[in-house]
Amino acid sequence: MKIQIAPSILSADFGKINEEIAGVEPYADLIHLDVMDGHFVPNITFGQAIVKCLKTKLPMDCHLMIEHPERFVEDFVKAGVAGLTVHQEVCPHLHRVIQQIKGFGIKAAVSLNPSTPVETLVDVLDDLDMVLIMSVNPGFGGQNFIPRALEKIRVLRAMKPDLDIEVDGGINAETAKMCIEAGANILVAGSYIFGAEDRAKAIESLRG
Ligand code: DX5
Ligand code: ZN
Repeated sequence: MKIQIAPSILSADFGKINEEIAGVEPYADLIHLDVMDGHFVPNITFGQAIVKCLKTKLPMDCHLMIEHPERFVEDFVKAGVAGLTVHQEVCPHLHRVIQQIKGFGIKAAVSLNPSTPVETLVDVLDDLDMVLIMSVNPGFGGQNFIPRALEKIRVLRAMKPDLDIEVDGGINAETAKMCIEAGANILVAGSYIFGAEDRAKAIESLRG
């Protein structure tokens, strides 16, 4: 599978966010948006009004770290996202939310926290466009990669060979290589890319 790189704007300068996006766009495949509500995760970022102002030709891959994501699906669709990822841990009616997202004609994905087993997705796997394996506890950029994520990627890849598997948290050239070997094909990176002097080079170094 083709390896795709999704820079997370969480580590970019929000004061000039569209310039920051323009700077990585030629080298990246997706733009990763981390939406946080201060409830599901202990941090707040931005919502649909800001997403609407983002300028990019790349698909916006929107990671919702929020409670009750079903209440905001339509707003983010209207803001222009190409895909929405909800967390398994906040969706008692996960199947319903996935159908709701797909009903808008965008990609539907589910994310798993480090402590949530891959097996919790067995009954919805065929409905999903992508699974996002968190390799840190969500909420902040710049944390260390949790190696156990690799085993989860391997198990998931064995369960569904053609599934898009994204990994998010603590990705650098070294951990990216391990994730690709385990079976991930979409890599999110925030601090590694936006903290680099040469962002183009940083992105290329993640492709393995
Ligand atoms: C964390 C976010 C990540 C974050 C990754 O909750 O979901 O997308 O931006 O940041 P790094 O790559 O710095 O670990
Ligand atoms: Zn994310």
